[in-house]
Amino acid sequence: MNHIETDLIRHQSPRSQHGEHSSSIYLTSSFTFESAEHARAMFAKEQEGYIYSRYDNPNVDELIDKICRLEGAEDGIAVASGMSAVFTGLAGLLGQGDHVLACRSVFGSTHQILTQILPKWGISHSYGDINNLESWADLVQPNTKMCVVETPSNPALDLIDLAWLGRFCRERDILLLVDNVFATPLLQTPIRFGAHLVMHSTTKFIDGQGRGIGGILVGDSEQIAKIRFFARHSGPAMSPFNAWLFSKSLETLPVRMERHCDNAEKLAQYLADHDDIAFIRYPHHHTHPQYELAKRQMCRGGGLVTFELKGGLDHGRAFLDALNMCSLSSNLGDTRTIATHPASTTHSSLTEEDRQAVGITAGLVRISVGLEHHEDLIRDISTALEKTRHLANSTSLKIS
Ligand SMILES: Cc1ncc(COP(=O)(O)O)c(C=O)c1O
Repeated sequence: MNHIETDLIRHQSPRSQHGEHSSSIYLTSSFTFESAEHARAMFAKEQEGYIYSRYDNPNVDELIDKICRLEGAEDGIAVASGMSAVFTGLAGLLGQGDHVLACRSVFGSTHQILTQILPKWGISHSYGDINNLESWADLVQPNTKMCVVETPSNPALDLIDLAWLGRFCRERDILLLVDNVFATPLLQTPIRFGAHLVMHSTTKFIDGQGRGIGGILVGDSEQIAKIRFFARHSGPAMSPFNAWLFSKSLETLPVRMERHCDNAEKLAQYLADHDDIAFIRYPHHHTHPQYELAKRQMCRGGGLVTFELKGGLDHGRAFLDALNMCSLSSNLGDTRTIATHPASTTHSSLTEEDRQAVGITAGLVRISVGLEHHEDLIRDISTALEKTRHLANSTSLKIS
């Protein structure tokens, strides 16, 4: 059997009569039938094949196959965005009166789905605290059907013990959906710990070059079949072009993740040693409160580092403005290093209280560490820290 790196490069949909080396793009809305009888048999599912790209498409299938191999999943479905993957998974499996148990530190838009959208259809939720796992059993209700968690969380990089959670959900017949965006399937495979479903925003490390929006959900074939029915008729399909882009990107994911992690480790250490930093968060840095767990369930620490400057919000903002090379953007998982201020951007829709509850302090800065040479990256950050200090000394900004 090949190594996964080889499979990601060599697995592709069958070549056309032209013998193209790179997969061709099936940019077509529909597929033709050989006869009226063939059309009937295809719709009756008596014959296999492609009908319409809202249902499935060769490029989309190639991407799904690769992610299933990476995650150890039976089947999957690819959709238009990461949020579409979360929503399609929930809407495809839940019904009126169901209850969802979720980790409090979920992505901002997942929080909106749970608190603002699902209640419209009578679906309720409770939030569990990762620092108080003993309380989770009391949060389970007779109608609890799913558990939704994100680990590491965006942006606080909190972890949840997947081995514990996998057992907890299996013992209670609760479907476990894990948002694995930050870890990627190369650093952590939740199905191994008992998850039924794993979702990715392919927008992030899977594309890895900040070009396309997409999402994917993989897991148990029985659950995916129900989700596929919902998607087939509600229509969140991924575009074949984006699927082709993401599948090509997977060819380089292992190489890219090595470099993302190498650079992030170096940056985390640099920041941890810096006098102007109040604290850093990086799963494989020994100061992370869940360092032992991170070592157990993630083979490397990932490409995200968060930190808080001494001086809080004002200093954080001055630092962002002083960056020269690093981009200010809300995306992550790009070749280019990106600095984000979650409290005023990606997580601004949360109340101050909700942000505090998930560790998003006012001055928290999130760095999505790119693939630039680490010396250039650290130089840009160190110059920005220096400028922030000068500004603090010469104006009302005070380093506390
Ligand atoms: C952890 C996490 N989950 C889900 C999403 C949503 O993905 P998308 O933007 O592709 O809809 C994001 C986006 O930043 C994310 O960071």
